[in-house]
Parts: sequence; structure tokens; C-alpha cells
Amino acid sequence: MAVKNHNSAVHLGFVWLVVSSTVLLQTSDGHSWKKHSLPKPCRNLVFYFHDVIYNGLNAKNATSTLVGAPHGANLTLLTGKDNHFGDLAVFDDPITLDNNFHSPPVGRAQGFYFYDMKNTFSSWLGFTFVLNSTDHRGTITFGGADPILAKHRDISVVGGTGDFLMARGIATISTDAYEGDVYFRLCVNITLYECY
Ligand SMILES: *[C@@H]1O[C@H](CO)[C@@H](O)[C@H](O)[C@H]1NC(C)=O
Ligand SMILES: *[C@@H]1O[C@H](CO)[C@@H](O)[C@H](O)[C@H]1NC(C)=O
Ligand SMILES: *[C@@H]1O[C@H](CO)[C@@H](O)[C@H](O)[C@H]1NC(C)=O
Ligand SMILES: *[C@@H]1O[C@H](CO)[C@@H](O)[C@H](O)[C@H]1NC(C)=O
Repeated sequence: MAVKNHNSAVHLGFVWLVVSSTVLLQTSDGHSWKKHSLPKPCRNLVFYFHDVIYNGLNAKNATSTLVGAPHGANLTLLTGKDNHFGDLAVFDDPITLDNNFHSPPVGRAQGFYFYDMKNTFSSWLGFTFVLNSTDHRGTITFGGADPILAKHRDISVVGGTGDFLMARGIATISTDAYEGDVYFRLCVNITLYECY
């Protein structure tokens, strides 16, 4: 009798395993996630921002600086020729509407990036666009992985204030210009799926 009960318990356990793994398979095949279709984008905005990295000689012009580096590394210059792994920079970069460094800024991109892959150049970005122009007043906050060598990278728009209250969506970023370890310019193509 005890043996029989034990067998049916094992049997029940097996049935539960099959059922639950079927449920798991159904949710991981992607289809069941598409029940809610994505709303149409409600807003598209394109901005550029300019990062001039401090290199020990350009204090006046620089808009970003290393604040963290691997043990024993030089805090003035980016570390490692092929990854910058472990470097953390804080920035306060001008935002412009076109790709000209000398165009009047419409706001500042403020935040940080750190290099987080050892076998290539890849970073993680966390920053806020603080916009204060006649067209846009408010903030948009971004976060996400930035595999720098890819032409287009999608990061998340995680929120906003003012004109961009509760903004949600994605930003496709691309490196528009690059001058060694001193300057880069990113094009930020923002698509919002929630606007208020
Ligand atoms: C870091 O590198 C800069 C530029 O090469 C140099 O001037 C500075 O002395 C270095 N600092 C340290 C702590 O090694
Ligand atoms: C934004 O611009 C307005 C009008 O020029 C100004 O009064 C305000 O202080 C500015 N705000 C910030 C945070 O710069
Ligand atoms: C500041 O940096 C930018 C980008 O590298 C460069 O175009 C500009 O000439 C620099 N300005 C000064 C005063 O060094
Ligand atoms: C921005 O993205 C939109 C939607 O994908 C696209 O139509 C537009 O051409 C892009 N603009 C730029 C400047 O890349």
C-alpha cells in the first residue's frame, strides 16, 4: 500500500513537471507575449550630443571626465587599447539639433557611462537629457547597454518630466563622429510609445 502511494505521488509529480514545462515552453516561444500589440509611436525626436573627454590638456573644453578606473590605471587617460574595461566617466554634454558642435545647444546630456566588456568596446549608458529651449522644456531619462561598435544601438527611454512627462520608448543611438579618445558625437533618435 505504501509503495503504491509512493508510486502515484511520483506519477503526479511527473505529470506536474510535464504540464509546467509545457506552460514554460508556450511563454518562451514569443507568441503568447504578442497578445498586446505595441501602440503606434506617439512622438519622434532626433538630437545630437557631443562628448569631449578630458585628456589632461583640454580642461576648458572637456565635457566629460574619468572618475573611476581599474586598480593601478591612470585616471587621466582611458585605459586599455582594446576595451577601456573598468573605466567610468561622468559627462555634462551639450545637446544640439544638428550634428554641428558649434550649433546653439538646446540642453545638456548629463550622466555616466562605463566600459563593461573585456573582449571589445562596449559600455553601459545612464543619462538624462535636460532640455530648456523654446521648443522643449523637460527631461528625458535613458538607460541601457551600448555595444559601441554596432552601427545602431537601442537603449530604453525609462521616463521623463515636463514636456516629456512619463515618457516611455526607445532611443536608437549611432556614433555620428569619432576622434580618437578625445571626442565623439552620438545621434539619438527617440521614439516614444507613451506620451501625455
Ligand atoms: C597619467 O597620464 C598623464 C598623461 O600621460 C600624465 O601626465 C600623468 O602624470 C599620469 N598620471 C599618473 C598618476 O600616472
Ligand atoms: C529655462 O529657461 C527659462 C527661460 O529662458 C529660464 O527662466 C529658466 O531658469 C531655465 N531653467 C533652467 C533649469 O535652466
Ligand atoms: C573643443 O573640442 C571640439 C571637439 O573635439 C573641437 O572641435 C574644438 O575645436 C575644441 N575647442 C577648443 C577651444 O579646443
Ligand atoms: C529616426 O527614426 C525614424 C523611425 O525609425 C526614421 O523614420 C528616421 O529616418 C530616423 N531619423 C534619423 C535622423 O535617423
